[in-house]
Amino acid sequence: MPSAGLVYLWSERTEMKLRILTGDRPTGALHLGHYVGSIQNRVALQDSYECFFIVADLHMLTTRPGVADIHAISDHTYEMLADYIGCGIDPEKSTIYLQSAIPEVYRLQLLFSMLVSVPRLQRIPSIKDMAQAVHLNEIPYGLLGYPVLQSADILLPRAHLVPIGKDNESHIEITREIARRFNKLYEEVFPIPKALISDVPVLVGTDNKAKMSKSLGNSILLSESEESLKKKVARMYTDPKRIRADIPGTVERNPVFIYHDVFNPNKEEVEDLKSRYRQGTVSDREVKDTLFNALNQFLAPIRKKRVELMKNKEYLKEILVHGTRRMQEEASITLDMVGEAMGYHHTWNELGMW
Ligand code: TRP
Repeated sequence: MPSAGLVYLWSERTEMKLRILTGDRPTGALHLGHYVGSIQNRVALQDSYECFFIVADLHMLTTRPGVADIHAISDHTYEMLADYIGCGIDPEKSTIYLQSAIPEVYRLQLLFSMLVSVPRLQRIPSIKDMAQAVHLNEIPYGLLGYPVLQSADILLPRAHLVPIGKDNESHIEITREIARRFNKLYEEVFPIPKALISDVPVLVGTDNKAKMSKSLGNSILLSESEESLKKKVARMYTDPKRIRADIPGTVERNPVFIYHDVFNPNKEEVEDLKSRYRQGTVSDREVKDTLFNALNQFLAPIRKKRVELMKNKEYLKEILVHGTRRMQEEASITLDMVGEAMGYHHTWNELGMW
């Protein structure tokens, strides 16, 4: 028996890192809300954690099950990979994989669905929001199970940490409950994962009406062109009572200033604009022009890298295929542990199926 000290040394030597799992549905190019909600954290943590990033195409089916959307997965995945890598995610360090290509996640989701109640899932507000967003008046069984599938994603590589936006927090709560339930009913297989909510948990859209979302038409994409960015910033919602530059305005909860706070690295400039805005000594035009400059400087290197990447789809494919293989290995290990813990190995063996 190795002593505790030796075990510690062994894990130090093999550099066992804690694991992250997070990802996005492949519904197209990502926007600034995705960046501040989660991608930024992924980039910051990719060296200290072993990272798994899921292209959650099965989750997309919960609201968009049609063939057209399934055909669009490949193009949307290229866009997403270009966004990830453009933002600084290093594909050499992380595992980026396609959810639907891992059969174990379907299996784990079914097993987990026994460990959570229907009323518990019905109480999650994000499920109703997602149904409403696509005008469904009845919630499909699969959509109700959205957080159960997400639990299967997270627990498949036995992840410890899940960087996500605030809207996904309740799904991680479900994941923790399922992991605890499984460990108690069977054997201790899963870590109890933690959510990591970013400092800017929800980024408001350019219209100030709701959180940034491509389908609501209030988003700024990571791939936004300079001209289009200029137009979007010029049309942004701002304090409506300022019909002239000499009327004092409100900075708090004003989306133009929220974006300045998040994306303008020149804090002095931001403070100066805020104080002149409050006094009514700056034009909306100037506030928006400086915001455009800050956003454009932030997006320019991402845009450039993206263009290069989108020219080389073979490279993007290779990353995904390699990542999916890597995830497949991990998934087999977990399902083995699950089969053993639940007693299935014993039963299949008995029946000559194993
Ligand atoms: N639910 C996430 C979204 O809002 C996507 C997702 C699917 C996910 N599986 C995940 C996020 C696992 C974190 C962990 O698009």
